[in-house]
Amino acid sequence: MQTLTITSPDDWHLHFRDGDMLKETVPATARCFKRAIVMPNLVPPVVNAQMATEYKQRIMEAVPAGAEFEPLMTLYLTNQTTRQDIKDARAAGVTACKLYPAGATTNSDAAVEGIDALFPVFEEIMQQNMLLLVHGEVTEAEIDIFDREKAFIDKYLQKIVSTFTDLRVVFEHITTKDAVDFVVASSDNVAATITPQHLLLNRNDLLVGGIRPHNYCLPVLKRNTHQQALRNIVASGSPKFFLGTDSAPHEQHKKENACGCAGCYSAWSAIELYAHVFEELGALDKLEGFASHYGPDFYGLPRNTSTLTLIKQEWQIPTSITPPSGEPIVPFFAGETVSWKLQQS
Ligand code: DOR
Ligand code: ZN
Repeated sequence: MQTLTITSPDDWHLHFRDGDMLKETVPATARCFKRAIVMPNLVPPVVNAQMATEYKQRIMEAVPAGAEFEPLMTLYLTNQTTRQDIKDARAAGVTACKLYPAGATTNSDAAVEGIDALFPVFEEIMQQNMLLLVHGEVTEAEIDIFDREKAFIDKYLQKIVSTFTDLRVVFEHITTKDAVDFVVASSDNVAATITPQHLLLNRNDLLVGGIRPHNYCLPVLKRNTHQQALRNIVASGSPKFFLGTDSAPHEQHKKENACGCAGCYSAWSAIELYAHVFEELGALDKLEGFASHYGPDFYGLPRNTSTLTLIKQEWQIPTSITPPSGEPIVPFFAGETVSWKLQQS
């Protein structure tokens, strides 16, 4: 039997949601990841230290007995965020701050309009040695949805990273060659996460032969040349690019809808999906760096000391998952065959 043993990985970008959903999402992630950067786009969003601390507590209560898992908390920036909010968040152990341009994605209506107004806050994030995590898409109505990532680089991101040269910035869930090139050309303080869906799929998988709502996420899937650029950069083993699933559950009826939600729920198959891609790329030797080394190195955290073993074995991703709420969720890549499976300890 062929096996692959790597340092235990972490997920540097995901959505756990709240309430009953935590009983579904937290065990799914704790199955293979030791830490995760938890997105703050709850309703209402996690905008201060107290909310982050309380949310962390609710997540910890959902960690299965015996599992070792640490949620790394984030603060949701708004136009009301103050420098004191950042100091308080730092003191409470919050790891990073998340910039959502207002209206960019799920539960981002309360987020930032006029990014320049937030520069004093970015300065404080830098001084506190926290990280800035960026949903890099403009939201101006006249900008085509497929061009929004590149427009964000040109209009905002370039300026943010050149103004705050000591600020560590993670360009989240990148989808374009433009983003790859930008990160490669930027200083060592700029890195990016990449999701399984953006490595596995392109916009044909969203639109050819009918609309496939379960492949709809934001930033939206791009043309295959962009997908290829993402695949090439992870196969290269560049330490500026690391694992962030953007796993984001939405109930089936909210995705199979005249106005379907954005998000792919990949937690139950996350590390296996990445292994599948790296094998396709002939780059399985690069999986460990991407999944387990480059993320903690960039965040200034220790690498995990335990290991995880994958077995070369085909299995099918379930077509439906029923969380405690009873409302089914169709997981990402439902019904598809994946070539690696997590060895259960
Ligand atoms: O597809 C997405 N879903 N992209 C995001 O940025 C947010 C996420 C969600 O919260 O559902
Ligand atoms: Zn996300």
